[in-house]
Amino acid sequence: MTTMPKTIFIGSDHAGLELKAMLAAHAAAAGHTVVDLGPSEAKSVDYPDFAKAVCAKVLKTPGSAGILVCGTGIGMSMAANRIPGIRAALCVNEYLARMTRLHNDANVLCLGERVIGQGLAASIADVFLDTAFEGGRHQRRVDLIETCCPALDA
Ligand code: RB5
Repeated sequence: MTTMPKTIFIGSDHAGLELKAMLAAHAAAAGHTVVDLGPSEAKSVDYPDFAKAVCAKVLKTPGSAGILVCGTGIGMSMAANRIPGIRAALCVNEYLARMTRLHNDANVLCLGERVIGQGLAASIADVFLDTAFEGGRHQRRVDLIETCCPALDA
């Protein structure tokens, strides 16, 4: 199903470890280059550290994508979206994955291991990685994401 192989940076916290491993294997089998930024063991860690590591790599690697997994996906998406240039989308179905690529040019997919099963997660990741940004009017809106917050202080 993969149309264009990508470099994918993937990370989790302890609560997302199993789903991360499955998604890394799934994406590699689909032809993507997968870089696992940890953790590699189940001891308790802090999700913002791994969000930061994955997002830094995504920003430095044009055309790449990030996948972040925690228990709910919420903490990862909150942390990732604090980083300028990152558009992280927490998805619970394929429709959201498709629309956030088409309209938001999301560059990081967030998933919750305690929320969805592995089969659905793999399917969401496939759609996210295989859907291209539509551009056009959506580019203007995506650009506004980066500039709208300072305007609130004016
Ligand atoms: C860890 O217990 C949990 O809080 C974390 O994985 C995540 O769900 C936070 O949003």
